[in-house]
Amino acid sequence: MSQTPINNPPRTFRAPGRVNLIGEHTDYNDGFVMPAAIDLSVFARVWPREDRKLVIRSENFSDEIEFDLDQPNPAPQQHWSDYSVGVAVMLERAGHRLRGANLQLRGEVPVGSGLSSSAAVEVATACALTSISELTIDRRELALLCQKAENEFVGARVGIMDQFVALFGQAQRALLLDCRSLEFKLLPLPDTVNLVICNTMVKHALASSAYNERRAQCEAGVKHLAQFLPNVKALRDVTIEQLERFGRDLPEVVYRRCRHVITENARVQAAGEALVQDDLHRFGELMAESHRSLRDDYEVSSRELDLMVELADKVEGVYGARMTGGGFGGSTVNIVDAAHVERFKRNVAQEYEQVMAVNPEIYVCEPSNGAEEI
Ligand code: GLA
Repeated sequence: MSQTPINNPPRTFRAPGRVNLIGEHTDYNDGFVMPAAIDLSVFARVWPREDRKLVIRSENFSDEIEFDLDQPNPAPQQHWSDYSVGVAVMLERAGHRLRGANLQLRGEVPVGSGLSSSAAVEVATACALTSISELTIDRRELALLCQKAENEFVGARVGIMDQFVALFGQAQRALLLDCRSLEFKLLPLPDTVNLVICNTMVKHALASSAYNERRAQCEAGVKHLAQFLPNVKALRDVTIEQLERFGRDLPEVVYRRCRHVITENARVQAAGEALVQDDLHRFGELMAESHRSLRDDYEVSSRELDLMVELADKVEGVYGARMTGGGFGGSTVNIVDAAHVERFKRNVAQEYEQVMAVNPEIYVCEPSNGAEEI
């Protein structure tokens, strides 16, 4: 790492990846999501500098970048460091003056797996930079600034889910979040089951136009419906009956996008109730419906994700299986009876490899705490 006045030992911050149990593509529609933070994290070691430079290095990549915090019009470089630089830029723009720093990142969250390595990088960076600058920022504001970094600097119009759960997740809990009010509940997950994540090994690219296109289609739906329903600000405000009644003139594809979001919001609420009642069978049914809706109405699944879900459904002890995250590749999430996890891993991996000629990675995850200094 470049020469710098380092007198102190570094401080280290950890921010987790996440798996979303249910509530997909609802966050940017002011809706409901239910992710959990997982025990795969990004670690940021940080040393303060005397100047206003950020020198960023990652153990996962070979190069290093230098960024001047006083640079007038910073632009993204289409580089892995954009997520960290974007966070620094947004913190400064919000009036939080940062110290220069040497930042060294190490990621365990597989990139492109749909487990939100980018939000983990953003949140780890935010915690590291604000701590050494002696800034105390409310975690909700920090989540929003990290989201802004991704929206306005990196250029992916993501919602708030990933950054929020990376900051507010809790061990053994799923987080039921209202993405409009940012109020949330932490719901216990029974310890008789495991969260098992199956990585299709097909990388997804979120900044890709398909994600932003879905957002635009939802906005088009809202614009149309608001002509009849003036209180509608987002798809969160629309019921399925209202869509059926006032959405008849929508282009067919926009209608289906809206239907997914509206029914998915209802599924998240129902899934929250199922968890409270310890009804994992109901929870699993809702996951299956969510997958079908993402596949058919929202069209963000893929052949690999569909196969992974079909294979999981055949294994004993599986309550539910669905794609997780933005889609177009990435991973599935499965709720599996702890006693059947080993068989699940064996069967699913073998059969997936037979069809796809790719060996999938399967992670048995523990719901974990949000970002912290370690
Ligand atoms: C990505 C985004 C999230 C959310 C999901 C889909 O993970 O970062 O904000 O929109 O896709 O649910």
